Amino acid sequence: MIIASNFKTNHTRQSTCAYLDTLQQFTEKSGSRQDILVFPPATALDRFSVASNIRVGVQNAYPVDKGSFTGEIGLEQIDEFGLRTILIGHSERRHIFGETQALCAKKYDYFKSKGFEIVYCIGEPEEVRKAGIDAVVDYNLEQLEGIDLSYEKLIVAYEPVWAIGTGLSASVAQIDETHRRLRETIKAPLLYGGSVKPETTKEILEIENCDGVLVGTASWNVDNFCRMIEIADSL
Ligand code: 13P
Repeated sequence: MIIASNFKTNHTRQSTCAYLDTLQQFTEKSGSRQDILVFPPATALDRFSVASNIRVGVQNAYPVDKGSFTGEIGLEQIDEFGLRTILIGHSERRHIFGETQALCAKKYDYFKSKGFEIVYCIGEPEEVRKAGIDAVVDYNLEQLEGIDLSYEKLIVAYEPVWAIGTGLSASVAQIDETHRRLRETIKAPLLYGGSVKPETTKEILEIENCDGVLVGTASWNVDNFCRMIEIADSL
């Protein structure tokens, strides 16, 4: 399974180091078999010495080697730390920062050409969910426009916008139905994200077409995140 933590705009350089130390000790001790991904903020990136099943990635980057893109980081800044995992298309980037599908696809192509492992996020807003499953599937498939689904280092995260940071996760039945429908098109590992908590991790990971979770809020506490990994190990 893939168990991923998106720090968003949380944690500092210092607390990220402490977090990864604890995580590393936990996985060493438990012998965890999970694929663990951690996305700290850009200011906390570093060349971390962690086990090979823990990969640190970037939450966002501009699709350039380097250049004049104030406030962004490019390949040169990521390369300094030898990182090769990136999150693209997160709903906060799409909705708060106005990233278009064309920009998401451009980022995807660029980082794919550099051999990155890409966690590509899709997810519908509440009004689309209210319109029913066919509308949900259509909306999510539109967010795959221009995305090469045969890329071997692709991981897709289905994160309904209405479930992100709200404490209101999609139900097991909703995730099950949506993943089953998306699976007809997406062969890559398919994660669920949106208010996942330690208490809901087991039931979500047991869903047939769910290959892992992408967690925000609940994962910012390292003990909670370790509990989720432990739950995945127990399945
Ligand atoms: P929450 O777990 O806080 O809902 O965030 C999910 C998410 O956006 C992960 O990328």
